Amino acid sequence: MNFELSEEHLAVKEAARDFAQNVLRSGVIDRDNKQQFPSDEIRQLGELGFMGMMVSPEYGGSGMDTLSYVLAMEEISKVDASTSVCMSVNNSLVCWGLEEFGTEEQKQKYLVPLAKGEKIGAFCLSEPEAGSDATSQSTTAIDHGDHYLLNGTKNWITNGSSASVYLVIAQTNIEAGHRGINAFIIEKDMEGFVIGAKEDKLGIRGSDTHTLLFNDVKVPKENRIGEDGFGFKFAMKVLSGGRIGIAAQALGIAGGALELSIAYSKERKAFGKEISKHQAIAFKLADMATEVEAARMLVYRAAIDKDSGRNYDQSGAMAKMYASKVAMEQTVEAVQIHGGYGFVKEYHVERFMRDAKITQIYEGTTEVQKIVISRNILKD
Ligand code: CAA
Repeated sequence: MNFELSEEHLAVKEAARDFAQNVLRSGVIDRDNKQQFPSDEIRQLGELGFMGMMVSPEYGGSGMDTLSYVLAMEEISKVDASTSVCMSVNNSLVCWGLEEFGTEEQKQKYLVPLAKGEKIGAFCLSEPEAGSDATSQSTTAIDHGDHYLLNGTKNWITNGSSASVYLVIAQTNIEAGHRGINAFIIEKDMEGFVIGAKEDKLGIRGSDTHTLLFNDVKVPKENRIGEDGFGFKFAMKVLSGGRIGIAAQALGIAGGALELSIAYSKERKAFGKEISKHQAIAFKLADMATEVEAARMLVYRAAIDKDSGRNYDQSGAMAKMYASKVAMEQTVEAVQIHGGYGFVKEYHVERFMRDAKITQIYEGTTEVQKIVISRNILKD
């Protein structure tokens, strides 16, 4: 077993860290307060090649591996999880899905600008009554020969208004259950597509999360992804990789909270010495560091499984479940270490605590990860 990162991996990590610390940090509190999407920052991430990291250069991407992507997600999430969720959806749900399962025409038309960061993508599966139970799609796409007519509502869609390419999951044949579900590529300006209300959220407030409405949207047949009925499996496959990205986001949030807590505890004095010299704080830091390192091992392991061609459904679900738990628990500890300062925005850790919660919910709740893990370990 080799725990060393290669020169290339270290360079990606360093570039992402540099961007996060020197570009993202200065405006992150303001964007969170104003619920402002990081448009300029995402454009710069595109220029750095971080919006299509795993896409081959042939389609405008950086041709890197999943471990590189995870390292970049971790460093960016140490500062700004609103920016990293946009990056994650674009990279692992939209670009990866299109490169893996799209036609050559779909790749040329949609993947190339998405991978270059010229356009942003969104992944639209969740509905008012289809969150964890993803097979219960009520959005319909009825076959009309050369096109489908798409009708329905999608909820909690990341990049809801900033995207211009949307992968939408819909039921095409209700009798066929999950085998009657398809995935479609929808463009923002298609007639009948309406961007609905923006959510006012607890965390990741800089990201734009919207309801989307489809009223008789005419979708050309060539915009279906894969064979008829492939949509549910498409969503599951895409989400399996997406969970590694969100696991890396959770790892970054926890790691960012740890870094700030270490720095703060070396500066702040109480009872005549730095609080890091009080065992009450030093032991908290020891626990935090151990939890973050354990999460890191699971996240990197899942990425390496994907890069090695092994099945990563289980390791990705384990990484997401554990890293998101660590993010939630350790950001609470970070606020505690910071005391009263932890409760105000200027010190960042209260935002980390708010941002951490969503990592236990989106791209499958903790309970969904347990379904995936238990089915894998119990199968014959
Ligand atoms: N790869 C390939 N196929 C898969 C698969 C995978 N990882 N997982 C399931 N399938 C296939 C199964 O083999 C089965 O096919 P067959 O019948 O042909 O064998 C089919 O899909 C149905 O599978 P299940 O019976 O396991 O389905 P289920 O209804 O029991 O659901 C579930 C399983 C894991 C709970 C699934 O519904 C799920 O993952 N739900 C959560 C959805 C989710 O993550 N939503 C997040 C929304 S996106 C988001 O959050 C993005 C964002 O904005 C940040």
